[in-house]
Amino acid sequence: MRLRSIELAMPGAADAATFMTDIWGMAPAKVVGDIHYLRGSGTFPYLVAFEESADAYVRSTTFVCTSDRLEQLKRSVTIAGLPAMPVVSEDLGGGHGIIVELAEGELLRFLVDAQEVEPIEGADLPVKLTHVVFNSADAEMTGHLAEDALGFRVSDRTKGMVFVRCNDSHHSTAFARAGISSLNHIAFEMEDLDAVMRGIGRLRDQDMAPAWGPGRHGPGANVFAYFIAPFGPVIEFSTAVNKVPDDYRPGAPEDWTWPEKRIDQWGMSDKNFDGLRAAEEKFRHRRDWQPQSLAHPIDVLTEENH
Ligand SMILES: [Fe+2]
Repeated sequence: MRLRSIELAMPGAADAATFMTDIWGMAPAKVVGDIHYLRGSGTFPYLVAFEESADAYVRSTTFVCTSDRLEQLKRSVTIAGLPAMPVVSEDLGGGHGIIVELAEGELLRFLVDAQEVEPIEGADLPVKLTHVVFNSADAEMTGHLAEDALGFRVSDRTKGMVFVRCNDSHHSTAFARAGISSLNHIAFEMEDLDAVMRGIGRLRDQDMAPAWGPGRHGPGANVFAYFIAPFGPVIEFSTAVNKVPDDYRPGAPEDWTWPEKRIDQWGMSDKNFDGLRAAEEKFRHRRDWQPQSLAHPIDVLTEENH
């Protein structure tokens, strides 16, 4: 299971895409109608899709997996009783699978047979997404739901977050104990620490200072630099998140404490709490489809044709 992409709707999608290519450092992949697809240096056809819309919201967050894993998901999602629907992706790379709505509206799409592309060598691009984090009214419940309904695993719990993995990367998603449900931030995996620092420099050239960072987190130990994007959400340069074994023992909040005044390993950066919080509430989840049974999608389609 791999995190692939996030699909956002927003006003000013073209301007957002220009920022992400010219300043953040992504490569344009394709524009299809009013959807702008942007890629990194890795093999995914795109990492972010920005669709023009009157409102800002999250269409979906997309993972790719094997056919066996998808069949497991169909069963576990059905047993959990979550709203879901079979899908054929119309986004770049195609593929088919399911889309699932978690308890607080988070929309996760799981695809198989999605095409990949040749990597781009020698360019200073993000490689891929490393995590997408959501705000939750009840992060503890959602962490358990991700384990039960999706087969994900909780890696660590802190006072602020429940970190969740879907492969050996410490977290591909996390649920922040925020009291509301929304997109918290999108993190881009950079080649190395230097690439993170060069990214910070590109934004500083535009008079954009990090809202927090550079720094190194506790859980996952990844390097971070958070910015508030001009189009609304929090976006992050990140690198070097820990790999964890299958039998990794989940840490509890009391295992992840800091000395006074310290909220990361390095302690070199101020954090713009208020600015980040406002940006973390801008993109809510919006389901624009009706749930269908996952058990017999062919039968469902046939029924609808009669
Ligand atoms: Fe992050």
